[in-house]
Amino acid sequence: MLDSGTLMTITTESAAVAAGLTSAAVVATTPEAAGPYELERDIESPNRNLTPISSALDAKGRLQVGGCDLADLAQRYGTPLYVLDEATLRATCRAYRQALEAHYPGPSLAIYASKANSSLAISALVASEGLGLDAVSSGELLTALEGGMPAERIVLHGNNKSREELTLAIGAGVTVVLDNWHDLALLDELAPAAPVSLMLRLTPGIECHTHEYIQTGHLDSKFGFDPDQLETVLRELTRHPWAQLTGLHAHIGSQIFELQPHRDLAGVLADALALARSLGHPVRDLNVGGGLGIRYVASDDPPSIQEWVRGVAEAVHQACQQRGLALPRLLCEPGRSLVASAGLTLYRIGSRKEVPGIRTYLSVDGGMSDNPRPITYQSQYTAVLVEQPRAGASERVTLAGKHCESGDILLKDLALPPAQSGDVLAVFATGAYNASMASNYNRIPKPAAVLVHEGAADLVQRREQPEELLRYDLLPERLAPVT
Ligand SMILES: Cc1ncc(COP(=O)(O)O)c(C=O)c1O
Repeated sequence: MLDSGTLMTITTESAAVAAGLTSAAVVATTPEAAGPYELERDIESPNRNLTPISSALDAKGRLQVGGCDLADLAQRYGTPLYVLDEATLRATCRAYRQALEAHYPGPSLAIYASKANSSLAISALVASEGLGLDAVSSGELLTALEGGMPAERIVLHGNNKSREELTLAIGAGVTVVLDNWHDLALLDELAPAAPVSLMLRLTPGIECHTHEYIQTGHLDSKFGFDPDQLETVLRELTRHPWAQLTGLHAHIGSQIFELQPHRDLAGVLADALALARSLGHPVRDLNVGGGLGIRYVASDDPPSIQEWVRGVAEAVHQACQQRGLALPRLLCEPGRSLVASAGLTLYRIGSRKEVPGIRTYLSVDGGMSDNPRPITYQSQYTAVLVEQPRAGASERVTLAGKHCESGDILLKDLALPPAQSGDVLAVFATGAYNASMASNYNRIPKPAAVLVHEGAADLVQRREQPEELLRYDLLPERLAPVT
């Protein structure tokens, strides 16, 4: 385990340059570490850091990311603001690709699980790095296609796909993940003229230690075919001329720090592969899903991307060898570990409430609508004041959101230097499952998002305006205000 005073894997300048960083971003250390902001980062595996890999301090000790001053960004674009670091995102994509090439002797493809954060900019960036993409709705699919992701690198997931979603997927030529019998019935009804590339999702029956809501692979799961249905569905598929089974898939959960469940999954999938091929299905792809965890707080110590890929690749290779199977193409579907550590959210502090002897609340201008993870999963985060990220703490505060909900607490027991109304705070590692899970609770508009790189900031999602929240409301004439 690391703690905030422990230095992580030492970064190398060559790795930094490869990730598009200037060597100045590989900052030197000072021995007297203060505050949760870490000076050294693992550039090869960004999921192991609290902050984006391009994070740096300017001469006055203020925090920059992607060469942009965070206080300036807050001033220019307003708060809350999602900030995404391009260098981190690209470095992570490359880490997955390179690790797959290094550790798996067959072909491979990393597929970005876009539920983690879906936008045109991220789709375009991930496509430009040669990755594929997993979508679970028409919205995510359209975003991927419009962002330039080639259809042959996209898979459509979902445990209750609609006719419209399936029609869009078939028309675009993306691979459809067959999750259940209902999918098969709908596809049959749509009677595709051309073959449809299918990937069959299994429930692998593997438990892992993560939050109950984000376990998907154990047997009591809404996703995928149960193992005892596998042979029946494989036989059934041989009777549908349009069905071209090209892959098998399983996903065991999210924010996982253990490697063994992923190794165990390789055996389950290899057994399924042997069965599918023995029944004549030309299965080429084995998709092991996502799930690698990231570092949200100093005590989190996830495996590196390289360790995870190596563990999975070796297990799949070995499982196939043991069964005498020709090596499939190895697919994985990272979401969180690909994008979370590239992101942070800027908030401005507003009110303060002191409850003597109990706690001090500092309220910010966002909360559960832009980050529902704390109230949903009791997730923890790390935060600093952007103008003094290294200052020693003088008090412990509870960071409250602005929503009309007592549970709208972003962070408990945050150690901060003296903080005042108007100060800007950065909450780290919010790149995954924040923007994509955002809501308009209390009719609060969704934040803007900027992509930062080498001193430039590009707006990639503009801030929603309160008036826009009314655009789908209709007022029946009989209720119209009398003028
Ligand atoms: C089918 C599937 N693939 C991939 C992922 C991505 O998982 P993670 O973000 O943990 O990498 C998920 C997320 O739950 C998923 O359901």
